[in-house]
Amino acid sequence: MQSTASKRILTVAALGLVVLARAPFADEHGPGAAPNGISLPEGYKDWRVVAASHRDDNNTLRVILGNDMAIEAARAGNTNPWPDGVILGKLVWKDARHEAWEKAVVPGEFVHAEFMIKDTGKWPATGGWGYARWKGMDQKPYGKDASFVDECHGCHTPVKDNDYVFTRPAAIP
Ligand code: HEC
Repeated sequence: MQSTASKRILTVAALGLVVLARAPFADEHGPGAAPNGISLPEGYKDWRVVAASHRDDNNTLRVILGNDMAIEAARAGNTNPWPDGVILGKLVWKDARHEAWEKAVVPGEFVHAEFMIKDTGKWPATGGWGYARWKGMDQKPYGKDASFVDECHGCHTPVKDNDYVFTRPAAIP
């Protein structure tokens, strides 16, 4: 009787240890959070397109995506300011040439995924936007500490009058 009870205790303790041991790896199914605490937005691979861009100074292709709220706001022309809850994402690839049509510039090596999350209550110091970036195919969080956002926000400040957003939603008939 007693031995059954102690076996049970041992089993419970062992299960507890398994749970504890797994806890530090809770994010093993996804990359770690950015240094400012932002997690990689869930489901971003299924978001719809807001616009696309190409930089010819560093030869990269970009697709700008939005969560449902962003698409809704973009289509309603409700983008200055973008409402709370909006997330804009940008995926960046190095330019590559299509092997069967070399004049076609296509996505090559993946560079990074980055996001701007609108929450005016949470991110008042950066125009209401929370910034985060994950680099490369292994999605390494960018920035050695939370001050990395100064770099993001600083470069987005020239478009302050457009709610710190460069992208204009592309016309779609
Ligand atoms: C050197 C200037 C510069 C820096 C630094 C910068 N951005 Fe941007 N960002 C831009 C420009 C220019 C665009 C629009 C052109 C394009 O699509 O690349 C843009 C676009 C974006 C977009 C799409 C929405 C928009 O504003 O058009 C997101 C999201 C974004 N940046 C996030 C970030 C994050 C996160 C960081 C910091 C980790 C960051 N940016 C740092 C210049 C910068």
